[in-house]
Amino acid sequence: MAQRFLVTGGAGFVGSHLVAALLDRGAECVVLDSLVLGHRAAVLPGARLIEGDLSDAAVLDAVLADGPWDGVFHFAARSLVGESMRDPMRYFIENAGNGARLIDACIRHGVQRFVLSSTAALFGRPADGPLDESTPVEPASAYGESKWMIERMLAWAGQVHGLRSACLRYFNAAGADPAGRLGEDHRPETHLIPLVIDAALGRRDTLDVFGNDFDTPDGTCIRDYVHVADLAEAHLRALARLDQGSVSYNLGTGHGHSVMEVIRAVERVGGRPVPFRVVGRRAGDPPVLVASSARIATETGWQPRFTKLDDIVATALRWRELHPNGYAG
Ligand code: UFG
Repeated sequence: MAQRFLVTGGAGFVGSHLVAALLDRGAECVVLDSLVLGHRAAVLPGARLIEGDLSDAAVLDAVLADGPWDGVFHFAARSLVGESMRDPMRYFIENAGNGARLIDACIRHGVQRFVLSSTAALFGRPADGPLDESTPVEPASAYGESKWMIERMLAWAGQVHGLRSACLRYFNAAGADPAGRLGEDHRPETHLIPLVIDAALGRRDTLDVFGNDFDTPDGTCIRDYVHVADLAEAHLRALARLDQGSVSYNLGTGHGHSVMEVIRAVERVGGRPVPFRVVGRRAGDPPVLVASSARIATETGWQPRFTKLDDIVATALRWRELHPNGYAG
């Protein structure tokens, strides 16, 4: 019999790509998404979409009762560092509060495997080398803190109730489904790669580079861009690994690229210049965030297939060229 999974936030960027990976492997998928941030069109036809909010106890109970579930993947969350610093309580209520409700419902309905979409925003303190799982957790934003709260709840749910969990800390999720079915469509869009692409395609006047006076070789911030299809694959491997107990993994490629390098990559791949101007720093941006993913590589054999920035950019560019209005088009 096909395995059956619940995916909260399965209409969002990373969640929709995980649903694609599950469907491609013959699994059955139920997506629970409020569609406040997600898109109906991002849920591939093979999956069943339930439009509902995690804060609605009745919905949560009805969905979880419709088991058995081979696992629950939890993506549904707000994920903007800046927004979380303007309205921190919203992040604690929505991310941590809904996380608590979902974990509680999972325990009551006998779910045994839980995979959390977590974040590199757990690591607020700049470090010299790549960040591994022994790097001290010290969130510099309410967003990072809200995800850390869920990680802690899962640790207690494991200790007391035996719920096994995988906490996957993504660095900068990027790219689009290599088969062209899905892409990145945030509203408003704040992420670097789609904004640079839109500037290259003439859909925005200019790209604002947030600071070029950081302590990096070209002065702009360095991030570890990891392809969303590689992230999806990491979820499947982490899930399989849960048979041996709970895990936490940092997910990146191990290589960082500066904002200027991203601009040059989009120019190379797209064959068009990117108009940009340097403006002031954005609050809370650390100069460098690069992952060490040695642990997941050793324990599950996961390796990113997309190791070149140009290849990641190419998949994102292809989707945005074909979908000028994102999922609305
Ligand atoms: N940037 C610009 N101009 C823009 C947008 C971004 O210069 O218009 C810069 C940012 O300052 C940063 C880099 O591009 O240096 C990447 O910015 P993103 O907004 O694309 O991504 P972040 O690194 O800020 O955050 C992302 C996710 C978070 C997650 C974090 C973890 O959005 O949810 O990665 O690394 F917590």
